[in-house]
Amino acid sequence: MRKMNTSFKLSKKALELMPGPHSNLPGYELFKPIFLTHGKGAHLYDVDNNDYLDYIVGVGAGILGYGNQEVLDEVKSQIDNLYYLDATRRNPLEIELAEKIVKHVPCAEKVRYLLSGTEAVQLVIRLARAYTNRPYFIRFDGHYHGWLDNVLGGVVDPAPAGRPFALYKDNDMFASKGRDLSAGEQSFKLPWNDIEVLEKVLARYGEEVSLIIMEAINCNAGSCPPRPGYLERVRELCDEYGIVLCFDEIITGFRVGLSGAQGLLGVTPDLATLGKGIAGGIPFSVVAGKAKIMDQLLDRSVVGAGTFNGYPLGVTAAIATIKYLEKDDGAFYKRVEKVQKRLTSGLRDIAKKHRTPMLLQEAPGVFFYQFIDKEIAYNVQDWYPDSDHVKQERLRKLLFDAGVLIMFRARWYLSGGHTEQDVDKTLEIVEKAMDKC
Ligand SMILES: Cc1ncc(COP(=O)(O)O)c(C=O)c1O
Repeated sequence: MRKMNTSFKLSKKALELMPGPHSNLPGYELFKPIFLTHGKGAHLYDVDNNDYLDYIVGVGAGILGYGNQEVLDEVKSQIDNLYYLDATRRNPLEIELAEKIVKHVPCAEKVRYLLSGTEAVQLVIRLARAYTNRPYFIRFDGHYHGWLDNVLGGVVDPAPAGRPFALYKDNDMFASKGRDLSAGEQSFKLPWNDIEVLEKVLARYGEEVSLIIMEAINCNAGSCPPRPGYLERVRELCDEYGIVLCFDEIITGFRVGLSGAQGLLGVTPDLATLGKGIAGGIPFSVVAGKAKIMDQLLDRSVVGAGTFNGYPLGVTAAIATIKYLEKDDGAFYKRVEKVQKRLTSGLRDIAKKHRTPMLLQEAPGVFFYQFIDKEIAYNVQDWYPDSDHVKQERLRKLLFDAGVLIMFRARWYLSGGHTEQDVDKTLEIVEKAMDKC
């Protein structure tokens, strides 16, 4: 058993000063917090000198792994040069970054910089409402778009009497006191990957819908892929009804490849959000999209503001990260893929050996498994009700105790810091943990 005395002491002290962790979404209550000192590659080190293999990497933000010297050196060059921008004070690096994003991301004709994914989603909602002059947007079960009231939680109403607003119940995993429940009536919440439901809703309410927003690969609820033809049909429907289509690529942008999920899957939305990995873990997000929608910011018919928007440190970090990802014809992605395959095929072998049914779904740089006898899950309801969550959480706890960090609901992120040796060590630990659960 690892010693965590200093972390325990610090967590007591922290509770006197701070109301718990920085982000209190579900899944962390199982574990005592660890207080970290530094990271290197895929490893994190804590104040008690424990070494952890980290497959959370800032919920995907740390795409490069920790301590990537090449990128850090470029970022450091800006730390001595901290200054801020506004309408009249601009930085030439902004253009270099915009050119890179426009080059890689299919929907990107113009870009706007912000700081977090939550903010980027809100700007998308405002741009789409303004562009269409319609009140509602559509979002989907299992998709996460930030912590603000109009996108947080609510469950799909199975038999809506009128417009299909979400139902707000206490057993919803994102239930939160203090939410403005009327914000839930800005959107219809639908099951994802079900084209018939979407067609029916649009046939009735299509003229009232400004925006359809989704994760094109549903990383937040099982790395579920779109059904064949689903995204293409959604694209057609958006064109038919004059609805803005946004792929929320806060996770998938630059993680699944330089062109994001839209490039990988070959369907181009009107707008996209990019965040997390784009600046290698430095706070930064982007709304990218069609000029005719984005230019509402230019004529100020839509307001989009933020003290730190486009801050030189973040812009520099994004340029340095993308340059690194572009190098040697995308060698980074090939490396991560190789390491990921070694890990996922090892996990499948272990499950087989233990005669444990396992659903494992992966996209480049991120995967998920659950203990359920199923080949593929197309949305959260395909796996959540019948998975063995007790076993899954027991395994996650055993891995934590042995120094392997994975996310709630067994989501794993790979980074450029993970090596084949890390994977082999991880598999050894998983094998032993599976014997106990
Ligand atoms: C798909 C998606 N959109 C938006 C967000 C919100 O981003 P942030 O936490 O940076 O506000 C997240 C965060 O996990 C996300 O996964």
